[in-house]
Amino acid sequence: MSEHHTTLTEPVRDLPGRPVTLWLDTTPETDYPALDRDLKVDTLVVGGGIAGLTTALMLQQAGMTTAVIDFRRIVSGVTGHTTAKITSLHGIVYQTLITHFGREGAGLYAEANQTAIEKTAALVEKEGIDCEFSRASAYTYAVTDSQARRIEEEVKAAESIGLPVFYVQETSLPFPTRGAVCLRDQAKFHPRKYLLALAVKYTGEGGLIFENTRALGVRRNGAGSEVMTDRGPIRARHVVVTTNFPFFDPAFFFTRMYQKRSYVLALRVNYPLPEGMYISIEEPFHSIRSHPMEGGDILLVGGQMHKTGHARNTAELYKSLESFARDRFAVSSIDYRWSTQDNVTTDLVPYIGVPTPMHKNIYIATGFAGWGMTHGMIAAMIITDDILGRRNDWSALYNPFRFKPSSAYSFFEQNLHVAKTFVRERIVSSHEKLEGRRIAPGQGGVFSLDHDKAGVARDHDGVLHAVSPVCTHMGCMVTWNNAEESWDCPCHGSRFDSDGKVIHAPAKKDLEKKSLKDTPSE
Ligand code: FES
Repeated sequence: MSEHHTTLTEPVRDLPGRPVTLWLDTTPETDYPALDRDLKVDTLVVGGGIAGLTTALMLQQAGMTTAVIDFRRIVSGVTGHTTAKITSLHGIVYQTLITHFGREGAGLYAEANQTAIEKTAALVEKEGIDCEFSRASAYTYAVTDSQARRIEEEVKAAESIGLPVFYVQETSLPFPTRGAVCLRDQAKFHPRKYLLALAVKYTGEGGLIFENTRALGVRRNGAGSEVMTDRGPIRARHVVVTTNFPFFDPAFFFTRMYQKRSYVLALRVNYPLPEGMYISIEEPFHSIRSHPMEGGDILLVGGQMHKTGHARNTAELYKSLESFARDRFAVSSIDYRWSTQDNVTTDLVPYIGVPTPMHKNIYIATGFAGWGMTHGMIAAMIITDDILGRRNDWSALYNPFRFKPSSAYSFFEQNLHVAKTFVRERIVSSHEKLEGRRIAPGQGGVFSLDHDKAGVARDHDGVLHAVSPVCTHMGCMVTWNNAEESWDCPCHGSRFDSDGKVIHAPAKKDLEKKSLKDTPSE
C-alpha cells in the first residue's frame, strides 16, 4: 500500500489582510537587549509571555532578583496571537473536569480562573494600565438541538460547582442560535498594551529582560540551576519555564499534550457588533468578540482549529473562516489575519509546577489550551507561592506529574495516533519526484529526491530552500503549511520556518539543510 502525500497548494497571500496580529500592529516593538553579561539571579524566567512576565513581576515585588529571557521579542509569541478573552467559561469543559477531578477539582479550576480575572482587573486598576480592559459576559452557544442539550448539561455541571452561569435562549449574535450558557463579569483587553506596561513596571522595579536570548538546556549547579543560552550561561536558584511548549521536558510532556492551531480574522462590520464574547461547540468551533479601535470597533472571528501538521491546505482554513464570517456579518473589510498554536493536556487542566519530584527548583507552565489569559495569571500565582513557601490551594489540581486514570484513554489514543502517523508518513507514503515540478513562491512540499526525501519550498524572492523533512524531535515527517509557510510536524506539533529553523518546540534542533543540484522549473 502506498499513497502520495505531496501537495502544492496556493500560498495564502492572495487573501485580504496582513499576516500580523492586531495586537502587534497597534503597539511598538520592544527593544530589550540580548544577554550581554555573566548573570546570577534568584529566579530566571524563560519565556516573555503573560505567564512569564506576571511571574517575574510578582517575584521581583516580593524582593527576589529576577530576569526574563525570550528567544525572540517579549509578548510576540502565543500571547501576541491570542484573542485575549479573560474568562472562566472555556467552551463546555466543566462536565469533563468533573469526570476527571470530581466536583471539588472542577470547583477549584473555576475558582482559580475567576480569581485570575479579578487579579488582572485589580492590577490594571492599581497600575493605571491603559489596555482597553472592559468587562463582558462570556457565552458558549449552540447551533443545533443536540448541541443545545449539551449546553444545558454544561449549565447544570457549572452550577453544581458554584460557577454563577445561566442558560439564555437568545444572544446578541446576528444569526440564529439554539441557546447558550452565559457567565457574567468576565473581561477582555489588549494583551500587548497590558503586558508591555507590566514589563515597564517590572524593569522599573529592578527586573531584567533579555530578548533574542535562546535557552538551550538546564543543568544542576549546586543548590540551584544553570541555564545554558546561546549568549552564555545564567545561574539561578529557581528556573521558571513559561515557553508555550517547555523547552525543558524531563517529564515527557510531548506524550501528554497535543498541539493545535487555530486562525483569527479581524474584521470591520457595517453595523453594531454583538455584545459579549462567544464560543461555539460546533466542529470546528468558532470564537467571536469585538475590540474597540479608532474608527470603530473591530470584530475578531476565530476558529478552524486542527492538530498541528494535520491540515493539508491551511490557506483554505482562512478562506473557510472568511466564509463563516461573511455568511453571518456584513463584513466591509478584513484588516488582519493571524494564527496561533496552543497545547492541550489529556485531562484539559494545564501543567503548572515542578515537572517531576526530582526537579524541585524548576517550574513549568504549559497546556493552557487556548485559555492563557487566565491560566497565565494562575501559573504566576501558583509558582510564586511555591517559590516563596506559601500554600496555594490550586497547586495539587495543576500538579504536572498527576495521573488521572479517567484520562488514560485519551493518553493512549493520542500516542497510538502518533505511532500511526509516524509509520504512515515515514514508511508507507511515497512522494512524487521533484524533477520537473513547478514550485511557485510560497509553495512547498515533500518530494522524492535522489532516492531520498526532501522538503522543498520557494520563498517570495524566488529562492528554493531544501531541508530534510525528518523532524529533529523524534523523526516524524513534517508537512508544508502553506498559510504560514512553515514545516509542521504532525506527531507532537513542532514547527520550523521555510528554511528549517525551529519555531515551536518540542524540537530543539533545526531541520537539516539539503542541497539542490537541479533547480526545478519555475
Ligand atoms: Fe515529535 Fe516531530 S514533534 S517527532
